[in-house]
Amino acid sequence: MNEITKRFPEGFLWGGATAANQLEGGYKEGGKGLSTADVITAGTHTTRRRITPVLEQEANYPSHEAIDFYHHYKEDIQLFAEMGFKVFRMSLAWSRIFPNGDDAQPNEEGLKFYDNVFAELKKHNIEPLVTISHYEAPFNLAQQYNGWSNRKVVDFYVNYCRVIFNRYKDVVKYWLTFNEINILTMPFGSFMAGVIMPEGNAEFGNTAGDDEGLRYQALHHQFLASAKAVKLGHEINPDFKIGCMIAYMCSYPLTCNPEDILLAQQKDNLSNYLCSDVQVRGAYPGFAKRYFKEQGIELVMEDGDEEILREGCVDFYTFSYYSSTCVSADPNQEQIGGNLSMGLKNPYLEASAWEWQIDPKGLRWSLNNIYNRYQIPLMVVENGLGAVDTVEEDGSINDDYRIDYLRGHIAEMKEAIADGVDLVGYTPWGCIDLVSAGTGEMKKRYGFIYVDKDNEGKGTLSRSRKKSFSWYQGVIESNGEVLE
Ligand code: BG6
Repeated sequence: MNEITKRFPEGFLWGGATAANQLEGGYKEGGKGLSTADVITAGTHTTRRRITPVLEQEANYPSHEAIDFYHHYKEDIQLFAEMGFKVFRMSLAWSRIFPNGDDAQPNEEGLKFYDNVFAELKKHNIEPLVTISHYEAPFNLAQQYNGWSNRKVVDFYVNYCRVIFNRYKDVVKYWLTFNEINILTMPFGSFMAGVIMPEGNAEFGNTAGDDEGLRYQALHHQFLASAKAVKLGHEINPDFKIGCMIAYMCSYPLTCNPEDILLAQQKDNLSNYLCSDVQVRGAYPGFAKRYFKEQGIELVMEDGDEEILREGCVDFYTFSYYSSTCVSADPNQEQIGGNLSMGLKNPYLEASAWEWQIDPKGLRWSLNNIYNRYQIPLMVVENGLGAVDTVEEDGSINDDYRIDYLRGHIAEMKEAIADGVDLVGYTPWGCIDLVSAGTGEMKKRYGFIYVDKDNEGKGTLSRSRKKSFSWYQGVIESNGEVLE
């Protein structure tokens, strides 16, 4: 058999990923307004996070301080540079720039903060990859407008984009319009992504009171906002590369029963492809229209909406990939996971302490599926292992489990490239320990860099290098050749 060359392309974008609400802190500093993330309490794997419209004195709100990147960004970027990052995925806190979301003028101090961050990245030749909206929005938009269910929010978002595109047009080239936009196809995404005010018992994962039709209406508004942003961005700077971002849910049929096969395909269609078909191809797919009809969902669309979607197709496709699950037509199969990742147990896979099944081959499978469908450049912008780390007496942190996880996934990305997939970048999630989105914990760590802070918010916030730090440095230095 002929030898296959398996290699990452020259100029491959190695780096790491974060989001403002899980990283920055400084929730009231520099004129920042309250965001939707700022009203969500901490939880655990077994205790749900709560959404509290009025801040409670006794409650712990992890976004308020997070890991205080707001004051540590120079030190953190220095560490990213030491690892050899080519790219850093970060998001902007919308409420830092428009404290209420509907303000007439942006907050100069907020804009200045990101000027400083981008300048620091430039100093180290690190390319920013900016998510415009990552699980947060000014809380005022939830309270006054019921978030994305209201079409007016499209205009506020486009205005926000106009401001940031103009301000950062010479320092940012890569943009993502919405983080994991497809989370809005699930009840879980209603507040976190859709900014829709919950009624009654406002707990994460509580599906009571969920309004599916309203969620899809909100999603339609996000599609319009995304498409308008793509068009506007290209007008402001034709060199901009603007992408979509999907939480790719890799779901296998549990058996070869045709019922399971069909169910897995339907899940793939609705959970993954509905959103990216709109954002990459510019129109709702047939299976979405059928689903809406069957569920009695009637989207309110205005004349010209279809044209807006058609004219705002993204330049590249990005996604998060952590784990895979199974689907079955048999309702008695064992469930696994929780928070952001849920499905049926796969007997062939091990799972993390948070019950996320570990499946590197699923990443190759997903990369091939996505590329076969769209044939545009792909980036894996989130991947990683949330785990408890132990600091040894000598201060070292030997996170071999994390290295194993990442090594396995990088090896499969290489296979996918050899399969012909145009993969252009990789930014593992939480390259520095940060707050978990699903549980609000600090204990669920993903980083190469350890941050001294615990679930209760105590700690010095000092940064230290884990064993995976030098391992990843070696991976980047060798462009993915050295994985041991
Ligand atoms: C992704 C989100 O779904 O998963 C991140 O985009 C999140 O914001 C990440 O942090 C990992 O999930 P968790 O719940 O472990 O933080």
